[in-house]
Amino acid sequence: MWSSGPNRFVAEECADLVPGRALDLACGEGRNALWLAEAGWTVTAVDFSAVAIGRARGVAEQRGVSAELLVEDVTVWTPPAGVFDLVVIAYLHLPEMDGVLGRAAEALAPGGVLVFVGHDRTNLVDGVGGPQDPDVLHTPSGVTAALPGLTVQRAERVKRAVEVDGEPRFAVDTLVRAVRPPCC
Ligand SMILES: C[S@@+](CC[C@H](N)C(=O)[O-])C[C@H]1O[C@@H](n2cnc3c(N)ncnc32)[C@H](O)[C@@H]1O
Repeated sequence: MWSSGPNRFVAEECADLVPGRALDLACGEGRNALWLAEAGWTVTAVDFSAVAIGRARGVAEQRGVSAELLVEDVTVWTPPAGVFDLVVIAYLHLPEMDGVLGRAAEALAPGGVLVFVGHDRTNLVDGVGGPQDPDVLHTPSGVTAALPGLTVQRAERVKRAVEVDGEPRFAVDTLVRAVRPPCC
C-alpha cells in the first residue's frame, strides 16, 4: 500500500462533490475507496488482486467502514452503466486503458464526475518512479481522447512530492477531471 490515506489529487478533486455512489477501478488496498466510504459515499471498488481486495476488506473491518470490494479484471469487467456519481481511476497502467476509460465513462450517471490520476509519460525524464514503459504511461490528451461524451474540466500534468533515499524529489502525474453532462 502506498499510504493509508487517499492520494492527494483524488482527495482534492473529490472535496467539492456531494457524496453519492462511487466506483474505484483498480482500487488496490483501498486507500481512496475507503476514504470515500468514510466521507459518506456508497462505494464499489474492484481490483484483480485477491490479495489487495483481502487487505482492503481487512482495513474496512478495522475502520468500521462499509464498501463493496470485488475481485474483478477491469479489462473485461463492465460496471453498470449510468449509475455512478463518481468514478476514480488512480495509478492504473495497462495497454487496454482506452477500453477501461470508455467503460468508466459509461458508468457515470448524468452529472457524474470521473477523476483520473496516473504516472505521466514525461515522468520518464522529468520525474522519478513509476512504470518505465512509455506505452503504458499517460498524457492528459491521451486520457481525454478516450472519454468521448464527457466534458473535460481539468486535464494537466501535476507534480507530486516524493522522497527518494531521504531526498525530496518530484514525480509527474497526469490528472484529468471530466463530467458527464447532466441530462435534459
Ligand atoms: C499502483 S496500484 C494503485 C492502486 C490504487 N488505485 C491506489 O491508488 O492506491 C495499481 C493497481 O491496479 C491493479 N490492477 C492492475 N491491472 C488490473 C486489472 N486488469 N484489473 C483490475 N485491477 C488491476 C493492481 O492489482 C494494483 O492494485
